[in-house]
Amino acid sequence: MKAFELQNNFGLENLKLIERPEPKIINPNDVLIKIKATSLNFRDYLVVTGKYNPKFKLPFVPLSDGAGEVLEVGLTVTDFKVGDRVILQFAPKWLDGDATYEQSRFTLGGPLDGTLMEKKVYPDYALVKIPSYMSYEEAATLPCAALTSWSSLVTYGRIFPGDTVVVLGTGGVSIFALQIAKFHGAKVIVTSGSDEKLEQAKSLGADYVINYKTEIEWGKKVKEITGNGADHIIEVGGAGTLEQSIKAIRPFGQISLIGILAGGAKDLNLLPVLMNNIKLQGILVGSKAGLAAMCKAFEFHKTKPIIDKVFPFEESVQAIEYLKTGSHFGKIVIRLDSLPLT
Ligand SMILES: NC(=O)c1ccc[n+]([C@@H]2O[C@H](COP(=O)([O-])OP(=O)(O)OC[C@H]3O[C@@H](n4cnc5c(N)ncnc54)[C@H](OP(=O)(O)O)[C@@H]3O)[C@@H](O)[C@H]2O)c1
Repeated sequence: MKAFELQNNFGLENLKLIERPEPKIINPNDVLIKIKATSLNFRDYLVVTGKYNPKFKLPFVPLSDGAGEVLEVGLTVTDFKVGDRVILQFAPKWLDGDATYEQSRFTLGGPLDGTLMEKKVYPDYALVKIPSYMSYEEAATLPCAALTSWSSLVTYGRIFPGDTVVVLGTGGVSIFALQIAKFHGAKVIVTSGSDEKLEQAKSLGADYVINYKTEIEWGKKVKEITGNGADHIIEVGGAGTLEQSIKAIRPFGQISLIGILAGGAKDLNLLPVLMNNIKLQGILVGSKAGLAAMCKAFEFHKTKPIIDKVFPFEESVQAIEYLKTGSHFGKIVIRLDSLPLT
């Protein structure tokens, strides 16, 4: 079968299309899956370029999201049969509740081989059926970005109708957060560096939009809009945006710390965090139980993942280069079906 592999070194130029031996079922609870689609997360760019963890062992297949069709099942598998459509839980040993350190670090696309390959064997307990109305391309966007937003707003954030949610930017995580917040009856404020993307966000239900490039003190703007401050902030910027998020959140509100898009360490006044009882909640994707609950909610609301662009498998390197430009809105998908089944 075909796979994209980092062989001797990190770097996009070292990501090569190669032949790997056919994966085989070994354990009785194994499931053999034909990967039909995968989607990109910013982490994939960091992993491939060696910026995420240069100690990951090579050779190595990147990417953390996968959706596919069951080709074969092990002897004890009862929940899945040949032909079922499934997605793969990012952290296969994190099934429910709080993860141990080991469970949260044992993840697809680093250190485990990822999904940029035609077939994969995965344990039955780490698979979830795809919502019936979704295509493989759509389903491939769920395991990381959508679950991260679900964990932030629902599992840890306990979102409530009438809450106000601020989402930073219009990438994969943030657009899912917008959709999840809207079907919970929340108001959503979207920030972006692009007025065009803000118009797109409005068409998805954003109640207020702020251009963070022209409105540098966007935290104050959120306070003006909400009065008391926002209930939730989807903080994908990290140290570079946290100061504004602290200004934007209400006392006792939750800032979900998710990403580092706006750069690294910065002098920060943490006094308002304690003076306002702000909850700073670190988020690392989520459990399989969260993924299953989210799929059930998406099935009910018929939530459509927003896909910016689909690349064929052969153009996986170009897809990652496109992610790096930040010009996308929502998710970038790679379709593996463009190659004949080997
Ligand atoms: N902790 C976790 O479990 C987890 C899971 C998934 C992702 N992440 C992290 O979360 C972040 C977002 O991931 P993603 O996959 O959604 O990325 P993405 O799709 O690549 O999102 C990129 C978008 O972020 C926005 N952005 C960039 N700099 C910004 C800034 N200074 N202020 C506000 N928005 C900014 C831009 O939106 P505009 O063009 O609209 O301005 C950009 O298009 C990444 O750091 C990623 O590593 C963490």
